[in-house]
This record gives sequence, structure tokens and C-alpha cells, in this order.
Amino acid sequence: MRRSKISIIGAGNIGGTCAHWAASKELGDIVLLDIPIKDKPELHMPKGKALDLACCGPIEKFDSRITGTFDYADIADSDVVVITAGLPRKPGMSRDDLVQVNAGIVKNVSENVKKYAPNSIIIVVSNPLDAMVYVAWKTTGFPAHRVLGQAGALDVARYKTFLAMELGVSVEDIQGLLLGGHGDDMVPLPRLTSVNGIPVSDLLPEAKIQACVERAKVGGGEIVKLMGTSAFYAPASGTIEMVESIVRDKKRVIPCAAFCEDQFNVKGMNGGKGLFVGVPCVLGSKGVEKVLTFKMNETEQKFMNESISHVKDLIAATVKLFPELA
Ligand code: NAI
Ligand code: 2OP
Repeated sequence: MRRSKISIIGAGNIGGTCAHWAASKELGDIVLLDIPIKDKPELHMPKGKALDLACCGPIEKFDSRITGTFDYADIADSDVVVITAGLPRKPGMSRDDLVQVNAGIVKNVSENVKKYAPNSIIIVVSNPLDAMVYVAWKTTGFPAHRVLGQAGALDVARYKTFLAMELGVSVEDIQGLLLGGHGDDMVPLPRLTSVNGIPVSDLLPEAKIQACVERAKVGGGEIVKLMGTSAFYAPASGTIEMVESIVRDKKRVIPCAAFCEDQFNVKGMNGGKGLFVGVPCVLGSKGVEKVLTFKMNETEQKFMNESISHVKDLIAATVKLFPELA
């Protein structure tokens, strides 16, 4: 039986950690691709990480083949390509500050994915996330259901973690949903949050719920301040949750940046069709197999509209840099 093949572009903090989670779950064979480090031609970081991880196999009991490479030919026949290439945030930076550098990197990576892995499903992780998913989609010309972005898996995990800490219950028993773009205006939904079906509003005062909502929104920044760089364990964990649902065709419902045509009042740029933004998706072997919708109340829709508007501003800034992506 053919094993799934997962290629990870950018073998830095998130890429390396994605490879780690994917190997430990034995999701398939893994390729870690990066570029040579300037002024250090003697180093081959992706090969080094791949070898180090491969040596965990006898201990962790996985047989995934792990390849480290600078060569895109090695990603041929990938089922899933995860794009983590690009600069992370430093203290004081917003995700949006990264657009100048990362749009060019994600465009270059996407051109190579189109050439070498034309049948793959792409999961973009690089920031600013929603705009970088748009870049990958425009550059590859892949059907929209094969291009998606990781944000909601992480953001909702942060939201659940903070609630579980506040409630003193297991994280496993928190159900919750979070939509919108991967910015500080993301939209956690307390109305749809429960502890095994018990509405969270019956268990915590409104102010405490709101504190968890606000902490989730700026959770990325809290970690950047502590570490001097972006989070990577949870972003990688969220990404591999999505990869697992795709390669095992699990049909998990995970919030992802996915192409919406009019769901949740999402309209395209300049009156055009469609926009990538965080919505609940059924993820299976075809990629985004369905976007699940439900009726938001007025306040939720207002927050969603604000988040959508921010995503549009980011795409406009990206298109200004690369007019061919319009
Ligand atoms: P990192 O700096 O540790 O790794 C990035 C890697 O990309 C580096 O190894 C670098 O050499 C590589 N790279 C740069 N240009 C490349 C190119 N043209 N081709 C191939 N590889 C290239 O950064 P980290 O922490 O792994 O973050 C990666 C990205 O993910 C950043 O843009 C960061 O902002 C974003 N991020 C996204 C999150 C999300 O939830 N979507 C959460 C946290 C970070
Ligand atoms: C995060 O949310 C910075 O996007 C990154 O951790």
C-alpha cells in the first residue's frame, strides 16, 4: 500500500515541529525542504533535522521515511504540502508587518509546488495567514478546495486552553468554535462554547468568558513577547491536526482559512467572487470537502464583518506589491 507523502516547505521552528508531530503520528513519509543558509554553505539544516528525527523512530516506534532537502524535485507526488516558509514575528510586530517579505517567499514556494506537486493539497501557515493563502491559490491556480490555511485550529485550541484553565476541567471536554481571519480581530464564539454540552455561560461569569476570548485573540502576541519569536508547538500541532484529517480522510470539522463565496456574508474583493477566511470546514482526502454554515447573531456577524474587512485590506496590500495576483 502506498504511504501518504507530506512535504513541509520551511524547516524552521514550525516546519520542524510539524515533521515531528507527523512522524510521531506516523501519517506518512515526510519531506522537509528549506533553502541554504546565507554565508554558511557547509550547513544543510533540513537534512540535519530529518536525520535527527529519523533517529527517533526506534524509540517512538514510527517507520516514516524523512527526507531533508534543498531540491523541489523531492516533493513530487506529495499528497499534502505545508507551507511554513517565511519570517516569523518579532516583539512589537503584527502579523501584517510580514506581508512585504513573506508574500514574495510564498509566491516563489507556490510556483514550485505547482510545478513539482501539481496534485497536492496545500496548507499555508506563513503569515499574514489569510493573505498568504490567497497568494498560494492565485499563484498555483489550484482549485480552491485544495488550498487552505491553518489558523483556526490553533486559535480555537488557545481559546479552549484558557477556558479549561479558568474552569479547572480537562481541555478534552471543552467544545468551541472560532471564525474569521488570523488577526487580533478573530471571532471566538462563546454562544457556541460548551463543556460537554453545558453552555459555558452557565459555568462562568461573562467577564471571565470575555477574558478568555480576549486572551485567545492576542495569544500569539503573548508568546512572541515571552520568547522573542512566534509560537511553534501549537501552530504545528494545529497544522498536523488538519493534515491527519486529510490523509486519513477523517472528515474532521476544523476551522480553517477556506474559500467562501457567500457563506457568513463573505464577499470577494472589489465585488468579485470569493475570499479565504476562517470558517468551519469538513476536511477529507479531497481537501476542504464542505464549509459548514449556521446563522450568526447580529453581534457575531458584526465582528465577522470587521475581520473580513481586515483580511481584504491585507489582500489589497499584497496585490499592491504583486499586481499580477489581482
Ligand atoms: P522560522 O524562521 O523558524 O522558519 C521559517 C523557515 O522558512 C526558515 O527555516 C527559512 O529558512 C525558511 N525559508 C525562508 N524563505 C524560504 C524560501 N524561499 N523557501 C523555503 N524556505 C524558506 O519561522 P517559524 O517560526 O517556523 O514561522 C514560519 C511562518 O509561520 C512565519 O511566517 C510565522 O509568522 C508563521 N506563523 C503562522 C502561524 C499560524 O497559525 N498560521 C502561527 C505562528 C507563526
Ligand atoms: C501566532 O498566532 C504569530 O500567528 C502567530 O502565534
